[in-house]
Amino acid sequence: MKFVRFITKNAALANVPKHVDHFSKFSPSPLSMKQLLDFGSVNACEKTSFRFLRQELPVRLANIMKEIRLLPTPLLSTQSVQLVHSWYIQSLMEILEFYDKTPEDHTVLKEFVEALVRIQKRHSDVVPTMAEGVMEFKHMFGQDPVSSQNIQYFLDRFYMSRISMRMLINQHTLIFASRHARSSIGCISPHCRVTDVIQDAYECARTLCEQFYLCSPELEFTEINAVNGNSEPIHISTVPSHLHHVLFELFKNAMRATIENHDSSKTLPSIKVTVSLGGEDLSIKMSDRGGGVPVRKVERLFSYLYSTAPRPETTTQRRTPLAGFGHGLPLSRLYVRYFQGDLQLYPLEGYGTDALIYMKALTSDSVEKLPVFNKTVVRHYTSVPEADDWCVPRREPVDFTRNHAAK
Ligand SMILES: Nc1ncnc2c1ncn2[C@@H]1O[C@H](COP(=O)(O)OP(=O)(O)OP(=O)(O)O)[C@@H](O)[C@H]1O
Ligand SMILES: [Mg+2]
Repeated sequence: MKFVRFITKNAALANVPKHVDHFSKFSPSPLSMKQLLDFGSVNACEKTSFRFLRQELPVRLANIMKEIRLLPTPLLSTQSVQLVHSWYIQSLMEILEFYDKTPEDHTVLKEFVEALVRIQKRHSDVVPTMAEGVMEFKHMFGQDPVSSQNIQYFLDRFYMSRISMRMLINQHTLIFASRHARSSIGCISPHCRVTDVIQDAYECARTLCEQFYLCSPELEFTEINAVNGNSEPIHISTVPSHLHHVLFELFKNAMRATIENHDSSKTLPSIKVTVSLGGEDLSIKMSDRGGGVPVRKVERLFSYLYSTAPRPETTTQRRTPLAGFGHGLPLSRLYVRYFQGDLQLYPLEGYGTDALIYMKALTSDSVEKLPVFNKTVVRHYTSVPEADDWCVPRREPVDFTRNHAAK
């Protein structure tokens, strides 16, 4: 019996490349927050959701699996990336098992939810595992500009795809499997009080900060509601856990910078947060007086390969570090970009940093931003960089008294 199962599993594994090729030919179908809300509230039909997911999840998985295979070979062959790849293969096969099953059968729907929960659990460590692989690669091969650019490009797309699949799976499992409080539709809150999320993220970061530095900056807060009159508190439809994640990361960074920049002073300047709701955008500005960084370095701060903090231990159960993998900013930017928002940093070197979160205020504008596999993507990984069409400045100024070099 064991032998038969072994053969069947091997036959299924041999078919994986065929399935990946097949499903990667379809483009993922981005959903708007409005569609997600409408579907979850009025017409919530488990069978429709089942039919959509058993097609859409393989499409999203296959599109990104094609890209995993284009990674630089030394990175692709690390144990961590191989492990992540094997999770993707396993999950794809598990969803495909439902391809010829009918949603009219209640047990099938139940088994589908169980499979989704299993997949969600399997993939819960994807980010630290991938980060380990990238660190290993960086340690062994250094950081040449072409691989660094490819890894940055890949991870932005890979993590965005992961955020999107977790979103779809969460919506299905929360709406159809759990008796969840109906104030939210799956993991979307249709009337999220933004200031509550800000306050909560601040308190979480503050607790962590106090553990490390035994002090923390205060929070000053301004709310401007230009849509419903200034006295009305701001509510929007959003995924509170995503917003919380982003704010928590920004608060951690702002607190660390503030304290490290005011080592010897007795009082710490507060962190100022301004929230403003307009007709199109919800904007959140977080200003710290942590000394900022040179503007030249801003892009680097969003690199998955960069952090100024000492590398945290992953093997031991230690306290959560305030900083470490260098994934805080790039991942946060993905969470806001996922529904067409953005995250930008404006430093004033020597003074502090303004971090700006832009989110779409309208649910019809908040549409999933999804990577798709095509020829442009392949070209991105395989093309050789061409010479710059702008002069590259020299590091040292030219001594014109000695050097009259011709072109
Ligand atoms: N508000 C800020 N002021 C000054 N420097 C900042 C600020 N925010 C980020 N940085 C710099 O950007 C780097 C990258 O930040 P990021 O949050 O991505 O990673 P990290 O804080 O090092 O680690 P983690 O992944 O745990 O967040 C930080 O190490 C820090 O040097
Ligand atoms: Mg950080």
